[in-house]
Amino acid sequence: MAKICVIGTGYVGLVTGTCFADIGHQVTCLDIDQNRIDQLHQGIMPIYEPGLEQIVEQNVDAGRLDFTTDYSEALQGADFAFIAVGTPSDDDGDADMRYVKQAVMSIAQHLDHPITIVNKSTVPVGTGDWVAEIIQEMNGANTFPFSVVSNPEFLREGSAVSDFMNPDRVVLGSTDRAAAEKVATLYEALRSPIMITDLRTAEMIKYASNAFLATRISFINEIANICESLGADVKEVARGMGMDQRIGPAFLDAGLGWGGSCFPKDVKALAHMAATHGAHPQLLQAVMNINRNQRMRAVEKLEKALGSLAGKTIGVLGLSFKPNTDDTRYSPALDIIRMLIEAGATVQGFDPQAMTASQAEIPELQLCTSPYDVAKNADALLLATEWNEFKSLDFARIKANMRGDVIVDGRNIWYRMNLHQMGFTYFGMGVPNLSEN
Ligand SMILES: NC(=O)c1ccc[n+]([C@@H]2O[C@H](COP(=O)([O-])OP(=O)(O)OC[C@H]3O[C@@H](n4cnc5c(N)ncnc54)[C@H](O)[C@@H]3O)[C@@H](O)[C@H]2O)c1
Repeated sequence: MAKICVIGTGYVGLVTGTCFADIGHQVTCLDIDQNRIDQLHQGIMPIYEPGLEQIVEQNVDAGRLDFTTDYSEALQGADFAFIAVGTPSDDDGDADMRYVKQAVMSIAQHLDHPITIVNKSTVPVGTGDWVAEIIQEMNGANTFPFSVVSNPEFLREGSAVSDFMNPDRVVLGSTDRAAAEKVATLYEALRSPIMITDLRTAEMIKYASNAFLATRISFINEIANICESLGADVKEVARGMGMDQRIGPAFLDAGLGWGGSCFPKDVKALAHMAATHGAHPQLLQAVMNINRNQRMRAVEKLEKALGSLAGKTIGVLGLSFKPNTDDTRYSPALDIIRMLIEAGATVQGFDPQAMTASQAEIPELQLCTSPYDVAKNADALLLATEWNEFKSLDFARIKANMRGDVIVDGRNIWYRMNLHQMGFTYFGMGVPNLSEN
């Protein structure tokens, strides 16, 4: 059993701290957001993540998990300090490191015993060296012994607890191999492959992994657009490609493109790092451009069906950037809604978890109580996020509620033949348009 302090209690920090407590470690999660910590003390989750609330409650009750805003309390006797604060994009596309810097300075101020500092935030290559320099500079020669280990996180929102508990691999990077091996012992109970490498390589593995996944999605979206021009069906193309063991089926779903708190900022940050070091990240630029254009494809389909969008009512199903999360950061749904409102449309939407966050971002968005409410008087319906509860709707009821008959299935989840036969004008992403045949 180790004593762990986790700094930053968001999607990554709260899941990391809770899961470490669940496998027997003693964990204190710290955040500078007093409201967030007060809520956690009352058992209220600051984020929606399936299964998280129950496992937080169990570990708090078992006395293995606690929350605080006080660095001296959280670091007292801690063997490990995990940093899991946000690293959003700054104006240049670089990672904004101000939260990491503040967290490191706070650790330095309260360092009164030897500790291993573990960086879980996604940080530019070279950050590990810089963390050590800050602590040395602030504490001088009298500093207590410390080591820095990079431990990038690969969990996905929506399945974060199960991803943390069953990782494909745990990556650890350090100039101090013994420190990385010490961190590896924390994960022993998970019985997953552990890879130990140098600091910079570990930091790079995270960026390269996210950039590759984003590339696969942009690739299949480009193929989808070519399929549309040539009359092929991208769903079948992806199925046929995915059966090739060299390719595999994951991340080959054509749609509205990627969003969320990671891919957009991480691809941008990698391209920025490359450019500032004299490299030419041409593929990464294309991947980002394709993704940007993919949102516009949905708007173009609506314009093709309805003509001018001014004065039209569009219903949008799904607002979060993907299903099973309330996270709306860089959500394709919200980007498209902004374009529709800009074009003069009225937009009404529904999401099982992301309504409050969406309306905070777009006050003009009219919130509905169900998919059927979204359909009311709508000229067109856009499926933006593929929540399970949208997969089997009563389309007769949807049709009766709508003013028009246009459906844009932005995630290709519905049977287009059925909808066509019911009299809808159906558009998918990269699939033949039955209404034109
Ligand atoms: N969200 C994901 O799916 C995911 C997956 C893998 C990696 N990551 C990476 O993990 C990091 C955290 O992401 P997130 O989505 O959990 O962020 P988040 O925005 O959900 O949470 C960050 C938390 O850190 C707190 N914080 C900021 N400064 C602090 C400080 N000085 N001391 C203590 N707390 C502080 C904030 O109040 C906030 O609660 C990022 O670098 C991200 O790229 C995220």
